[in-house]
Amino acid sequence: MKYIKHIAIVLALISFSSCNKGDDKLAMSSDSTDTTKNVSIENKVEELLSKMTLEEKIGQMNQYNGFWDLTGPAPSEGVAAKKYEHLRKGYVGSMLNVRGVEDVMKVQKIAVEETRLGIPLIIGFDVIHGYETLSPIPLAESASWDLKAIERSAEVAAEEAAAAGINWTFAPMVDISRDARWGRVMEGAGEDPFLGSKIAVARINGFQGDDLSDPKTIAACAKHFAGYGFSESGRDYNTVDVGTSTLYNTIFPPFETSTKAGVRTFMNSFNELNGVPATGNKFLQRDILKEKWKFDGFVVSDWGSIAEMIAHGHAKDGKQAAEMAANAGSDMDMESYMYVEELAALVKEGKVDEKLITDAARRILRVKFELGLFDDPYKYCDIDREKATLGKQEIHDAVLDMAQKSVVLLKNENSLLPLKKENQKIAVIGALANDKTSPLGSWRIAAKDETAVSVLEGLKQYNGNQITYAKGADLSTGENTFARELTINTTDKSEFAKAKSVAKNADVVIMVLGEHGFQSGEGRSRTEIGLPGVQQELLEEIYAVNKNIVLVLNNGRPLALPWADENIPAIVEAWHLGTQSGNAIARVLYGDYNPSGKLPMSFPRNVGQLPLYYNYKSTGRPNEPSPGEVFWSHYMDESNTPLYPFGHGLSYSKFVYSDLAINANDADKYITVTFNLKNESKVKGKEVAQLYIQDLFASITRPVKELKGFELVELEAGEQKRIEIKLTKDELGFYDNQGEFIVESGDFKVFVGGSSKTILEDKFNLQWDISQ
Ligand code: NOJ
Repeated sequence: MKYIKHIAIVLALISFSSCNKGDDKLAMSSDSTDTTKNVSIENKVEELLSKMTLEEKIGQMNQYNGFWDLTGPAPSEGVAAKKYEHLRKGYVGSMLNVRGVEDVMKVQKIAVEETRLGIPLIIGFDVIHGYETLSPIPLAESASWDLKAIERSAEVAAEEAAAAGINWTFAPMVDISRDARWGRVMEGAGEDPFLGSKIAVARINGFQGDDLSDPKTIAACAKHFAGYGFSESGRDYNTVDVGTSTLYNTIFPPFETSTKAGVRTFMNSFNELNGVPATGNKFLQRDILKEKWKFDGFVVSDWGSIAEMIAHGHAKDGKQAAEMAANAGSDMDMESYMYVEELAALVKEGKVDEKLITDAARRILRVKFELGLFDDPYKYCDIDREKATLGKQEIHDAVLDMAQKSVVLLKNENSLLPLKKENQKIAVIGALANDKTSPLGSWRIAAKDETAVSVLEGLKQYNGNQITYAKGADLSTGENTFARELTINTTDKSEFAKAKSVAKNADVVIMVLGEHGFQSGEGRSRTEIGLPGVQQELLEEIYAVNKNIVLVLNNGRPLALPWADENIPAIVEAWHLGTQSGNAIARVLYGDYNPSGKLPMSFPRNVGQLPLYYNYKSTGRPNEPSPGEVFWSHYMDESNTPLYPFGHGLSYSKFVYSDLAINANDADKYITVTFNLKNESKVKGKEVAQLYIQDLFASITRPVKELKGFELVELEAGEQKRIEIKLTKDELGFYDNQGEFIVESGDFKVFVGGSSKTILEDKFNLQWDISQ
């Protein structure tokens, strides 16, 4: 029997120096210059607060949408009309969806020049994967497992957005999700809390840099706190019902890590958690975030989520909703108009303590001071900088780099890829191959339609081959431009014949199929996750005339493609790769970039397997006791395994793992895992070497595998390296059902390989010394 040793473990954890950048930041903030800066900001905040009326403090807690882009339900005319009036009175602390220097300047001028105290606005915007020049969607970027590239992508996004007047992004979304039906998986880092936490830090560092007052940096926002990725049946905005262990061990880690990395804001979520909507949830916002994690930035509600507590059946009217949200620690009201309408009366009636209002205003002002908005409210409003920055070459270079690193080679039989560069007849088929809008993906408010490089354009830059294009079928027959909702073509196959005749004469057929950019994202859940419309039929008909197919997938979520996996020789996961999409895909197909991406989410065989994830629990009946027996955890009509596992991704190189060794001599500090990785091929390439553990027997059952380390390794042809990964107690412990982090003695397995379907395996035993 193991023992649990909280006190010694807490001490041991304190003495471990974690190497993540966020911790450096925390350490940095304790040096003398930073301390002086912080003290001076705190003094300025207090001085300002002392001059503010209750209504002005509440004004800081009020955020209005701008006057055109809508990223949530449209407000009523009457409410919209009040915005300017409130702005002039100093009753608006922030605006979202106002963009471009000229327009930001207009609202900022009102706040600074026409209000009593001249407090500048903080301008928020969904810079989710870029501003005007787009990087791949976040799920795609996560497939790179390349933290430096991800940080750089966020850095250039911040630079472009900041040049357009924005100083706060509603990103990163750090919600873990295991359900590909949920449209917003495109916006996150996938299903794993360890990878998700690393990526959260990279994005926060990219957006915020080392100095928030640098005009090229913007404040980041960890969202949606909490549980939004676990909406039931993958239906957006749906109820969330998760157990304590999942909450602490899976959902919370990327959020907690974000606070350690110094993220300046949080956004709460639309869902309820254990019957209490997140917006009115004191446990989440006060007890965990502000008390336990000591977060000193501010929390913004999600769009209208304060008022939505009425529809949830939690608040009986807007006034009660405002009371609940303010008391629970929601500092800023996005588009519910409840704080500005109701909070002053609630304070006077003694239902909300004025101290809480002051605390919320303090948090918001603190971030505004840190951004340097009080030194120069127009520092993000330089029209020359805007012109020089938007779409500049350096930004295109960074998003191209990110795009090629995000591609995942799912299958490559008979080395069909890379393509030969000369004397080939290549048929390119699929409406998405010639699409310059869809690759921009969802969340692309400031990007103009038709600005992505299409696959066809990318391929045509290689002029040694003869390319013939046929669309085969339209993916959609129309778009509701307001909602950007598509009507999918499920009937028109009139162009199949032409595509077949083009395919018949080709040496290789490149089929670009999948989802349109607006088939994933917010409000875009799906119950079928195969190829939409007539694309599956098109694929099968083309296959009947030419089997040499390279299937290039465009999608914002894992798709279930069992037929393609069984029949199509080469499959490339190219997601929605952003502005440079076609260039990146062409470079990968022609071998000018050797693919190195690995899946951040499991791909199911069948939508019925969802939620599907690699780090599942064993159950009491995990294995088939004897052939044909029914009393074990399985489906009658489908295997339990994914089509492509988490962490999967091939390369044009061949990587071989060997000689796993575990050294537990310094177990009080760390366990050292070493192994050989060899590139047994003639091409240089990169591999994400992955390390998983299993805590075999624990007081709270642990998953069959948990990612606890990875390294992106570049190897020349024939080169071998010995890789070393250290496991500390941070990686070997877990949260108990009281939310305490514990490490238990006992047996652990270590697995190593190029995906969660690992290759090498060994064991070790840990006995923590109680006298430690
Ligand atoms: C609603 C979304 O849930 C959130 O992520 C986004 O930041 C806001 N709308 C603002 O657009």
